[in-house]
Amino acid sequence: MTVKVTTTVNGGQVSGDVEPNTLLVHFIRETLGLTGTHVGCDTSQCGACTVHFDGVPIKSCTLLALQAEGHDVTTIEGIGEPGHLHPMQAAFQENHGLQCGFCTPGMIMAGIGIVERNKGGLTEETIRHELEGNICRCTGYHNIVKSIAAAARDM
Ligand code: FES
Ligand code: FES
Repeated sequence: MTVKVTTTVNGGQVSGDVEPNTLLVHFIRETLGLTGTHVGCDTSQCGACTVHFDGVPIKSCTLLALQAEGHDVTTIEGIGEPGHLHPMQAAFQENHGLQCGFCTPGMIMAGIGIVERNKGGLTEETIRHELEGNICRCTGYHNIVKSIAAAARDM
């Protein structure tokens, strides 16, 4: 049995037929073909699947596609594009905030949330603490933290 889900993704309304137990991350990747959102675990630990849900970073493997009905989802494809990068994307590029890149979309979506939640002042300690839900298997944390700090100055 499939059920129709209608939601807003990257500013446009989209619909698709999903199984009731389809995860939002699979709807994003497989139904919508937005493969910038990654799946790095099956235990909700890695954060590679992070998207913005009504403007707040969430792990899209922890929600059913049906729960996105009527909500607003933004994926990595929706925040910038070549030649017009989001300040967080530009900061990752300038500060070498990635190695293999697998965790990067999730790090960038989480990083935007960290900056927005800490507009009064963002310390390196806060960035490291709030990034605890995102794992980089290349262990490139130093430059990821540096990138988020740099983006905070431009956002
Ligand atoms: S795939 Fe969602 S936390 Fe790992
Ligand atoms: S850059 Fe390889 S997993 Fe983070």
